[in-house]
Amino acid sequence: MQFTINRRLLRNNCLFFLSVFFILEFIHLSFFKRHDSFSKEIKLPSINILSNNKYQKASPNTKLFQHLQPFYYPISCQNLYESDSDELKHALALLADIKNPSSIADQSYNITKEQCQNYRSERFNEQFHHEDTPINRKFPLAFSILMYENVEQFERLLRILYRPQNVYCVHVDKDATSHVLQAVRSIAQCFDNVILASKQEKVLYATFSRLQADINCMEDLIKYPSWKYLLNAANSELPLKTNSELVKILTIYRGYNDIEGRWKSRNVHRTEYSWQVIDTASGNQEQVPQIRKTDEKKKPPPGNVEIVKGSAYGAFSRAFIEFVHTSSIAKELLDWSRDTYSPDEHYWATLNYNTHLHPPGGYKAKSDPTNWTARFVNWGERNCYGRIIRGICVFGTVDLPTLFNRHELFANKFHINADPIAYQCLEELLVNKSKLDLPLNDATFYRQMPFLLPT
Ligand SMILES: *[C@@H]1O[C@H](CO)[C@@H](O)[C@H](O)[C@H]1NC(C)=O
Ligand SMILES: *[C@@H]1O[C@H](CO)[C@@H](O)[C@H](O)[C@H]1NC(C)=O
Ligand SMILES: *[C@@H]1O[C@H](CO)[C@@H](O)[C@H](O)[C@H]1NC(C)=O
Repeated sequence: MQFTINRRLLRNNCLFFLSVFFILEFIHLSFFKRHDSFSKEIKLPSINILSNNKYQKASPNTKLFQHLQPFYYPISCQNLYESDSDELKHALALLADIKNPSSIADQSYNITKEQCQNYRSERFNEQFHHEDTPINRKFPLAFSILMYENVEQFERLLRILYRPQNVYCVHVDKDATSHVLQAVRSIAQCFDNVILASKQEKVLYATFSRLQADINCMEDLIKYPSWKYLLNAANSELPLKTNSELVKILTIYRGYNDIEGRWKSRNVHRTEYSWQVIDTASGNQEQVPQIRKTDEKKKPPPGNVEIVKGSAYGAFSRAFIEFVHTSSIAKELLDWSRDTYSPDEHYWATLNYNTHLHPPGGYKAKSDPTNWTARFVNWGERNCYGRIIRGICVFGTVDLPTLFNRHELFANKFHINADPIAYQCLEELLVNKSKLDLPLNDATFYRQMPFLLPT
């Protein structure tokens, strides 16, 4: 009762102030056009009231951020997941027709702080976030996202992953264009829990910089006290599980790390010799830095560790990341790895599998577990229906039924320009699934993961 009266009073007051504002603005426009510094001070707050009000009263189709709505292809994703051949033909015909996929220019993400509320309500499903379950709220996750280009894809990824209780760190490559950096900054400023990495690296394929970029984000994320697990990702990835599903799976993992590791299959050249980054002249006179093996043999790694080959991506428990951040062996190994080939693919595994280091959530036996769930990557061991880039499949529309059935947390890789329909359909599936908080139908699969040894 009290509240209604106050609201009405407030509205009347607003109407009154608005009328006054219009009169003042009229006077201002007519007579004081040149007094800019003065007018700015009184104008700004008035404009805020006006624009908020305008937004609330506007019809649903007059959106401030209409230009940031992605183009969605007229296709039934549901039929594609069900391998309907007519729908697939339809999708492939659409894709064949796309010469320049309609994408949103990086410069379009020029959101001002004052527009953040509108931006969030138009582009992020706030209503739905506020209805998230207490279980999910009590199990915050941290994400690091490495990116170089394509802000539209970043925004769409963030939109899928975003929940108010989680924390997100974005590492924008030091070599990214200023448009990309500006755009990501203007998105991040709209969220308390989305930060940019405080240190930027120029990430070069297979070099230490790739690992350092992740570590920069992890060091920023560790300052947020609530999260339980950290998942690192690239802008070219999509989750296969909703936030609720991630929480359920990581609850089953009870602090164990989901880090791929293989004792036997490491390539000794990667770590037994010192590697250097050198500029090589490419065809068009440009100096392209590349990593090259030298003849210099490296000293054995510190702490009597054995190098274990794994993946750059994982699901890391908070205690493990604290260990990486504080233990001296983790620091020494990191230093030792600077001149190795692709240290991102052995650093996490080496720390996780060398039992004598007692890493929190680490693997307790000196043998390879045989399966992990952090990533689904198709290295060409099965048919790739998209495009193969650097030996990795960039998933396409025909891969959708396979993706639907995978248990992994994320899939690597996707590109909205390579196959916008695959991207759109995985997005749609995740949005649909996240509105239903169903039980995990494959919980047994996760409970049987070999890295969950009895304690
Ligand atoms: C998602 O939900 C919408 C609305 O209910 C439905 O039309 C669509 O087919 C669903 N898509 C998938 C992939 O389940
Ligand atoms: C912001 O982006 C929109 C859409 O691209 C453009 O029309 C507008 O002029 C831009 N504003 C600024 C301040 O750059
Ligand atoms: C996990 O590894 C075990 C042991 O090799 C194997 O029997 C099982 O089939 C694997 N599960 C999956 C789903 O690959």
